[in-house]
This record gives sequence, structure tokens and C-alpha cells, in this order.
Amino acid sequence: MPDDFERMWRDLEPVGRSAATGGYFRQPWTSPERELHDWFLAQARARDLEVTGDELGNLVAWWRPAGALPASASPGVVTGSHLDSVLDGGAYDGPLGVVSALAAVDLLRARGFVPRRPLGVAVFVEEEGSRFGMPCLGSRYATGALGWRELSGLRDRDGVPLPDAVGAATAEALEAQEQAGPAVRLSRLRDQVGVFVELHVEQGRALVDRNAAVGVGSGIWPHGRWRFEFTGRADHAGTTRMEDRADPMLTFAMTALAANKQARLAGQRATFGRVEAVPNGTNVVPSSVTGWLDARAEDADALATLVEAVRTQAAARAERDGTSLSIAAESHSPAVWFDPRLVERVAAEHEGGDWPVLPTAAGHDAGILAAAGIPSVMLFVRNPTGVSHAPGEHAEVPDCLVGVSALADTLERLASVEATG
Ligand code: GLV
Ligand code: MN
Ligand code: MN
Repeated sequence: MPDDFERMWRDLEPVGRSAATGGYFRQPWTSPERELHDWFLAQARARDLEVTGDELGNLVAWWRPAGALPASASPGVVTGSHLDSVLDGGAYDGPLGVVSALAAVDLLRARGFVPRRPLGVAVFVEEEGSRFGMPCLGSRYATGALGWRELSGLRDRDGVPLPDAVGAATAEALEAQEQAGPAVRLSRLRDQVGVFVELHVEQGRALVDRNAAVGVGSGIWPHGRWRFEFTGRADHAGTTRMEDRADPMLTFAMTALAANKQARLAGQRATFGRVEAVPNGTNVVPSSVTGWLDARAEDADALATLVEAVRTQAAARAERDGTSLSIAAESHSPAVWFDPRLVERVAAEHEGGDWPVLPTAAGHDAGILAAAGIPSVMLFVRNPTGVSHAPGEHAEVPDCLVGVSALADTLERLASVEATG
């Protein structure tokens, strides 16, 4: 089995990799991401897994052995993750969960295990929201948290509408499905997935500190994205006196500092990682600056307080700078607690003692499925660098293989019984 994991990992290594940075650019509905999609279909075929999916690109490859009850009678045990990346991302965030899921199926088959319920390997599209700004876009669509109506209005940063990115025929099919009633599509996924397990590279160093190869996720911090638009007045960078300017870059700069300070004071997280200036000329005072705030906190009140504090300071500074400010919430993911009985079971029922149980401040498809009422849980694999969403993201092969066997053990227990969970 180790060869299988490593062979698959090698297959994926060059896809979407930048020669300049070593990071990955696997944005949804671009050629690297479509190549990964096709790779997954080939892997499913090679294992005789039957693939179901929706037009958006979400996929589930099912292992339905003869004698297993159909998903309609006994909802399946599903594992998996995503294959897209952030801009210049790491190799592991997403693909580790998909490759480990396929390797876990191989390991279960090598053990001679036969599931009593359908066992699925899922790939959700656009988890990172790196192209259309909406994180977990695919799983939100698949669970019904968002419909085609909302998605079809999204544009990427080059102004390409999502219906154009997915292609005319697909967009038409999605539109027709929406007209026919999205309830049909939604009930399908919810009826088919009885329990979801997502394996993921750890995105911090908690497992390094605890000297553990694998951990179990307890929940996800609430988080969201807010678009801050600062508008001022374009002017000459040389001839305009400093006191005569209405420079939105200043308001933005102070807002970024305020966000950092407020988050540090409160022990939460706030980041402006994306900014666009118009007209973006070295010798021009900008007419507008747009910055995207990513904020996360341990609970909903703390998140609301943090965002409000940033908003208040930004508005006060705009007044001083003679600029104006508008703020739009682009996405919100409420706090998620994974099914506590499932977390306890997964953490305790394995050879070799307890696995650490950790919350995470990163968003995941497992959080979206949990919020849709599907019992879900996550396994984390140690990341020696602690770095994520960047080329330095890493996991050692021996730890990945511990992850594969932890996942296989978990799936085996869950798929040995017909009832949910
Ligand atoms: C996704 O990984 C996120 O937490 O933004
Ligand atoms: Mn990520
Ligand atoms: Mn991820």
C-alpha cells in the first residue's frame, strides 16, 4: 500500500506547480484543476468505483460491494476532501485527504474488508474560494446552503462570470436543474451521506508540540470574509499637497493595522491578504482601494465584536481622511462542532492510545456537511513546518501513512454497521 500512496502523490506533484515558487495554482475550472478532476476519475475507474456527481464538479466515487445495502437504504460512509488550492498554495491542503481516501480504500480491500454500507470518496470543487471568493463553494452547493441562483452571480477577479467558467452547456444544465427544483439535488446528497470523515494536513504545529502523527478535529472556529471598499479622489502624486488629498490607501493602511491590533488584543485572527488599488499607478493617488478582511474567532460573539471594532476604526479614519467606506459581507461560516460521540470514538478507538483532539481555525468541507446535519469528523496529519496555504506546507510520508491507516480503521468501523454513525 505505501507504494500506492506514494505513486499517487508523485502523479499529482507537477500539476499546477509554479516553477518560480514551488507553490500550486489549482484554481477551479482552470486546466490544472480539470487535470486533477480527470486524474480522480481515472483513479475511480481503476478501482471499479462508480462515480456520481453534480454538474458543478463535485464528485463521489462509490465502493458498493455486492450485498452492501444501497445508499437509499443505508446512507454511505463518505471520506475525501478537495483538489483545488489557494493561489501559490501548498501540495497537501486538500489533495492529502483525497489521496489518503483512495489509499484507505486500497488498504481496506487488502485487508479483505467488505463494507456493509456504500463507502464513498468525495472531491468537492472550489473549497478555497480562491477564484470566486466563496469558500467551500462546492460543498455549499451540494448541501443546499447555496443554490445556482446565488452562484451564477459570482465573478472571478478578471470579471469572468461563474457560468462562463463552468462552460455554457454545464451552466444551462445547472439552470435547468434549479428551475426543476433544487430540493431534488439536495435531498440526494443528504440522503446518500450518512457520515463524513475528512482527513487533512494540520495547518499549525499542535501535533508537533504533542508529538503525535495524527489528531482528531473537534470543531471549526466561526469565520468569514468582508470586502472593504475605500473611495477617495485620484490626483497627482507630485503636485497635490499632502493636506489636499483624499487618499483611500491611507484609510486602508490604518484599517489593516487596526485589524491586526484588535485581533491580537482579543486572541483572535484578522487578515487583509488581498488588496486592489485603482488605478494602481505609482505616481497617482488612488481613487479607490478594496481590501478583503478574513476574520476568525473562537465563538460567534467574539467574531462579531472583532469585525465591529475594525469597522468602527475604519469609519473613524475615513472621516479624517475625507474618504468613504462601504463594507459587504461576502461569506460567513458559523462555528461548527463535530459530532462529539463520533469525535470521542475516533479519538479513542484505535490501536496505541488516544489521539489529540483539536479545534481548528481553518474552514473545511466537513464543516459545511456538519452544518447541513451530516455527522462529520476530521483527522489531521502532522505538519512539521506548521505552514499552510503556502509552498512550505508539508507532511512526512511516514506520518501520511499513519494517516491512511487511521482513516482506514475509522472507515472500517463506520462501514461495518448499517446504521448511521
Ligand atoms: C480554507 O482552508 C480556509 O480556512 O480559508
Ligand atoms: Mn485551505
Ligand atoms: Mn483544505
